Amino acid sequence: MARTRLPSPPLCCLALTFSALFGAGPCVEVTVPQDPVMQERGSSVELPCHYKTSVDKNFMLEWRFAPASIAPEQGKQILYFTNDKLYKPGSQAERLSLLHDPPTMGDATLQLANIRASDNGTYICEVNNPPDFYGSGSGLIHFTVLMPPSTPVCKGTEYARIGGDATLTCSSVEGVPSPIYAWSRVDSKTSLPLASMVQDDQTGKLQLTNLSLAFSGTYQCVASNQFGHASCQVTVNVSGTAEAGVIAGAVIGVLLALLLLGAAALYLFWYRKKDKKESQSTYTGNEIREDDTAPGISDTSLQRQDPGSRFLEQPVSRPESASTTKSRLNMVV
Ligand SMILES: *[C@@H]1O[C@H](CO)[C@@H](O)[C@H](O)[C@H]1NC(C)=O
Ligand SMILES: *[C@@H]1O[C@H](CO)[C@@H](O)[C@H](O)[C@H]1NC(C)=O
Ligand SMILES: *[C@@H]1O[C@H](CO)[C@@H](O)[C@H](O)[C@H]1NC(C)=O
Repeated sequence: MARTRLPSPPLCCLALTFSALFGAGPCVEVTVPQDPVMQERGSSVELPCHYKTSVDKNFMLEWRFAPASIAPEQGKQILYFTNDKLYKPGSQAERLSLLHDPPTMGDATLQLANIRASDNGTYICEVNNPPDFYGSGSGLIHFTVLMPPSTPVCKGTEYARIGGDATLTCSSVEGVPSPIYAWSRVDSKTSLPLASMVQDDQTGKLQLTNLSLAFSGTYQCVASNQFGHASCQVTVNVSGTAEAGVIAGAVIGVLLALLLLGAAALYLFWYRKKDKKESQSTYTGNEIREDDTAPGISDTSLQRQDPGSRFLEQPVSRPESASTTKSRLNMVV
């Protein structure tokens, strides 16, 4: 075909020169499309391959296939024609055929029916014509299987608090070309602040910030390309109750602490009063009890103590004989 002109390999040119000089068979010139071939999954495709050589009994055509994951050179034989017979090794066999069978008239175009995602990759068309020493040529076709996006998976923050953030993601496993993602709200009554909603149509991510109760609801993501679209949904529940609960808890906690503190103060006040009364009746005019004023401890050192801490310590230390121990130690020193 005129639209696809392959540059002849140098060897082939050499062969041409040789054939011109010595009258050998013409070299093989294989022509395939230079642009990638694309076709939708489920349909059929023709992978064009044309050659120029005089076919004789040693003519051999071979098609190889390399999935996108492996190098084209490592492609496996999927179809070959030799000795007037067609062979189709490989798993695609029942879906493969030649446009012209036998492919002896310069057309080795391959047909592939009911295209699958796994058919994506590189196809190599090679023609061998052994009597011509240099008589071999091959062409490489990039084949892309197009398909609609598969049903995407919606994930993300389902429970959030007022003022917080939420991130939703949406992704289709399949889809060629890459799907575009679009988020929207299902049956939304109130419009949301646009600045609080940022979405990336390439990655399918939706970022919600500074949440309010109005953000609660169902969000839908549609993944689409020119072959179709599919969607998924996710529900976000923004609650103020959780935060209110925390505040209420904090308030109750503070109140409880104040109440306890008050009770403690009252108790101490009452205790001190009672204590004073007792000391006044037993030890007249002496603030420091007799058992405290052991030898070695001066009245001033005791009185220098913070009166508050003394009050707090008093009820605990009183039933114990701590004061006597103290005085005994002081006696030793
Ligand atoms: C399909 O094959 C082409 C090469 O033919 C490759 O560039 C592309 O990445 C492949 N696509 C997938 C989804 O494997
Ligand atoms: C968050 O939203 C509230 C109203 O819901 C608004 O008053 C406030 O300014 C927002 N804060 C930021 C940082 O956008
Ligand atoms: C949101 O969560 C609260 C508490 O978990 C629940 O009572 C309420 O029904 C939820 N609302 C939605 C719309 O799911």
